[in-house]
Amino acid sequence: MLMQTIKQYIDDNKQRMLDELFELLRFPSVSADPKYAPDVLKTADYVAQKLRDAGADNVEVCPTAGYPIVYGEKIIDPSKPTVLVYGHYDVQQPDPLELWHTPPFEPTVRDGKIYARGACDDKGQFYMHVKAFELMMQTDGLPCNVKFMIEGEEEVGSNNLGIFVKANKERLKADVVLISDTSMISMEHPSLETGLRGLSYLEVEVTGPNRDLHSGVYGGAVANPATILAKMIASLHDENNHITIPGFYDDVIELTETERKELNAAPYDEAEYKEDLDIADVWGEKGYTTFERTGTRPTLEVNGIWGGYIGEGAKTVLPSKANAKISMRLVPNQTSEQITQLFTDHFLKIAPPYVKVKITPHHGGEPVVTPTDSVAYRAAQKAIAEAFSKQPIPTRGGGSIPIVALFEAELGIKTVLMGFGLDSDALHSPNEKYDIFNYYKGIETIPLFHKYFAELSK
Ligand code: BES
Ligand code: MN
Ligand code: MN
Repeated sequence: MLMQTIKQYIDDNKQRMLDELFELLRFPSVSADPKYAPDVLKTADYVAQKLRDAGADNVEVCPTAGYPIVYGEKIIDPSKPTVLVYGHYDVQQPDPLELWHTPPFEPTVRDGKIYARGACDDKGQFYMHVKAFELMMQTDGLPCNVKFMIEGEEEVGSNNLGIFVKANKERLKADVVLISDTSMISMEHPSLETGLRGLSYLEVEVTGPNRDLHSGVYGGAVANPATILAKMIASLHDENNHITIPGFYDDVIELTETERKELNAAPYDEAEYKEDLDIADVWGEKGYTTFERTGTRPTLEVNGIWGGYIGEGAKTVLPSKANAKISMRLVPNQTSEQITQLFTDHFLKIAPPYVKVKITPHHGGEPVVTPTDSVAYRAAQKAIAEAFSKQPIPTRGGGSIPIVALFEAELGIKTVLMGFGLDSDALHSPNEKYDIFNYYKGIETIPLFHKYFAELSK
């Protein structure tokens, strides 16, 4: 497939390709909130229809115990290699709504960027694959077999995906999984992520007295669960910002000096980083750089913390309960199950006798490192080098896509993470965006991946 053919097809279909993405972005497919359930289901139908329109066969909206998985395929020749494209049509909650400059489900273009929930994560990115597939079908033809698996529960932990994968091993057989759901350093510095962190997510509840109390009548004589919770959480990091949970680092694989050098060779402008976030300084585990902290080290974060009175004005109250949602990002060879256990044991142990502590685990996911010596990785390198006129830089991603480890464990298939987002795209935040340039650039790069993957597989 020639670059000229690709560029011509995109040029001839530019507006329609964008209009279809906008239609997709208008579905509020928030998987975490049941009030959006009908919209999530409609989104799956839309994705299935678009796959059919693009030329996929055997398209099916496969039911699960949760939201359905959209499957479709084009088998041109069983003896040719097969690419399994994975993506997710569900999105995160749009809250806090008041911080959006335009409504999250009314995609709007400002300054060449599409603003909408899911613009980058992951509708804008997986839809590039649908359009690149259409492009290949309409022009020179596909050089290899393609299968699509677009799920609707990624943002809530892909709980039903494992069951689907186990039950559909034959149907999902492929030589590589291709995912665009990660970030690049910048358009000037294209990169390929070669790893993802795992996740362990829990909710804790600290209970003091059996009811909210008058803080004057009881304050000073009864432990305040909000204060206790704050202290317990604060104790989880030491003065070097190491995590204090016993055994937490036992299975962590340290990078070699060569690996660290390679990782830190990627361009990083700390002044710009701080300015973008409006922070006076960066923070993190002593002895590690920012790239190492986000890509190669495990972390512990409070995602939300509440308790007592948080309404208008003041209310003098000593709350009965305080809560927090805590997550830990994991790296090889930590496992989600073990870290959840270590956290639970430790957190119960540090609870003072004045309170009761309840811990509820949420979803998890395993960390992965993806190969850089495979045919598929080389194909991605070549495709990006051609489309961007620059060699991609390998990086380690800080986010999690639990399915990657699952594909490897269940199907024995490795993944290539060919993402086109930017960290500044505000994933999971208000005013999420995706650059129109990146959208078309992705549609341009993907057919090149298929071409080189087919060629190099011979
Ligand atoms: N696409 C993200 C993961 C991501 C973002 C990886 C940027 C690398 C760079 C994905 O949709 C996501 O948000 N995953 C969740 C995990 C899930 C179990 C809720 C995450 O990382 O918090
Ligand atoms: Mn995503
Ligand atoms: Mn996400």
